[in-house]
Amino acid sequence: MRITALRLRDFRGYGQVLLAPPEGVTVLVGENGAGKTNLLEAVHLCCLGRSHRTSNDKEMIRQGQETAAVQLTVERRDGRHEVGVRLYENARRRKVVYVNGKTASRLGELMGHATVIFSPEDLALVKEGPQARRRFLDMLLSQEQRAYFYALQTYMTALKQRNALLKQGDARSLPAWDEQLAAAAAPVVRLRRTACEQLHKWAATHYRYIGGREEEVFALRYQSALAQSEHVEQDMLAGLRACREEELRRQTTCFGPHRDDIDLTLCGTPIKAFGSQGQMRTAALSMKLAAFDLLEASQGEPPLLLLDDVLSELDPDRRRRLIARIGRAQALLTCTDQADFIGARPACVLRVENGSIRETGAEEHAAEKGETP
Ligand SMILES: Nc1ncnc2c1ncn2[C@@H]1O[C@H](COP(=O)(O)OP(=O)(O)OP(=O)(O)O)[C@@H](O)[C@H]1O
Ligand SMILES: [Mg+2]
Repeated sequence: MRITALRLRDFRGYGQVLLAPPEGVTVLVGENGAGKTNLLEAVHLCCLGRSHRTSNDKEMIRQGQETAAVQLTVERRDGRHEVGVRLYENARRRKVVYVNGKTASRLGELMGHATVIFSPEDLALVKEGPQARRRFLDMLLSQEQRAYFYALQTYMTALKQRNALLKQGDARSLPAWDEQLAAAAAPVVRLRRTACEQLHKWAATHYRYIGGREEEVFALRYQSALAQSEHVEQDMLAGLRACREEELRRQTTCFGPHRDDIDLTLCGTPIKAFGSQGQMRTAALSMKLAAFDLLEASQGEPPLLLLDDVLSELDPDRRRRLIARIGRAQALLTCTDQADFIGARPACVLRVENGSIRETGAEEHAAEKGETP
């Protein structure tokens, strides 16, 4: 997928912006706080219905304004589409999604506009708790197939209601909810399991390639009480029954895919406990590249890439390998320093300065690269 137009209104620090990114790499250069990440965030919002860095949608509305709007024109294998998101400060519906000019009734209608974002926060994928890795899987699989997004929504709704019953100490109605929860869990577990098998193959290869050391073997495994289960629904029911007493005591659901994780190891040892900073960074990067592969394989074309400040953290060799790996996708790449994107062969360089974006002339760009135009 690629974007041909991006329109913003009152999004974060921006008043009005219209951009038409070309194919290939568009570089956004600007000082800290200039608004580079804001721009990538706007694209992410349109593709996934949410920001990659906040769960509070209101934060994205420009201070002092009532509403913010983002609109993308995208080209996919199946043609051209318009997708948009509008956020409201005070309205009853705080977030409204538009697809091809019509208001979409469900957020899921955005899914399928595939994008992968690489950002410094990716390290959390390796360093933090299971929630970060579940979110990674959920966002990825929702983009890969809308059915996953809806299955997950059904599961989370059932889970919430069941937890409310547990809080009230209402054990009599639990069996009926067990069945609903188990039925909803089955597709979630199956799709996560298949995805992790694919991600494992790709991520291990990327790790070897980017890390550049044959002896460092990176592995990614789906970790779930139901990981091996052949009859997920029945096993989930049995699991819930076995936990009944603990659940009533703790007043929360103790068994099911909301507790899943992805196990990450380097040569068999948990990378979180024993990995170096650089190894963890390479692991996170490999996982994101594997996500890129998964989306490319399922959609038959590369997803859009958003690269936020990632090049500066890689040594030149790793940087070169990363760029070579993703060269065929359209990418929006941010950096503070011109030197960071040398080697990325940008199709377009834009300068971001407090709320405005302008194209740097070819001469300026060449001069900044230290070349003669
Ligand atoms: N809702 C908002 N209304 C107005 N301005 C906002 C809003 N939210 C954020 N900003 C402004 O956006 C700026 C931060 O933008 P952003 O995070 O995109 O910077 P950046 O260019 O990515 O910087 P860095 O290089 O440090 O990552 C801040 O100056 C902040 O004041
Ligand atoms: Mg930033």
